[in-house]
Amino acid sequence: MSKKIAGAALMAIVLAMIVGRFTVKADEFTKEDLERWQNEYMSVVEKGRALWVSPELGTNGVACAQCHPNAANTHPETYPKFQQQLGRVIALRDMINWCILNPLEGPTLALDSAEMIALEAYILFERRGVELAPGKH
Ligand code: HEC
Repeated sequence: MSKKIAGAALMAIVLAMIVGRFTVKADEFTKEDLERWQNEYMSVVEKGRALWVSPELGTNGVACAQCHPNAANTHPETYPKFQQQLGRVIALRDMINWCILNPLEGPTLALDSAEMIALEAYILFERRGVELAPGKH
């Protein structure tokens, strides 16, 4: 086999593998799966909403919703961005913890905790459709 033909054959195999993989992936879930995943997602959003309006994250009776009704002024679409309070580029969840620690005087959440993911899910759900603007002030 000439080098050219060998190269073309190799390319054909790689292409077949890529196409094959995507086809298999597309077949991997059903309508029922999609419905179940959407329901699971919405249950986490609801959990975030419940935390949002409750004082349980802090120690002083204050809730996120008092200053950010319906997640107003949380600007999740601007993260990661430089935040003066922390003096560096931070993720949305770092700012969530900043507000738990300061206005709510509560213990910060583990960044990968179920509560943190629920708060993020809720904030982003409220801002769905807003154009991403990372770094923006
Ligand atoms: C007493 C009022 C108050 C409460 C309660 C409060 N925040 Fe905030 N929050 C602020 C203020 C003020 C800022 C603006 C800080 C800044 O960017 O200078 C802010 C900023 C934020 C931001 C970033 C906004 C941006 O434009 O980048 C997020 C996210 C956020 N808060 C989440 C929360 C969460 C989650 C809670 C509840 C755990 C909460 N906040 C509770 C006052 C509050």
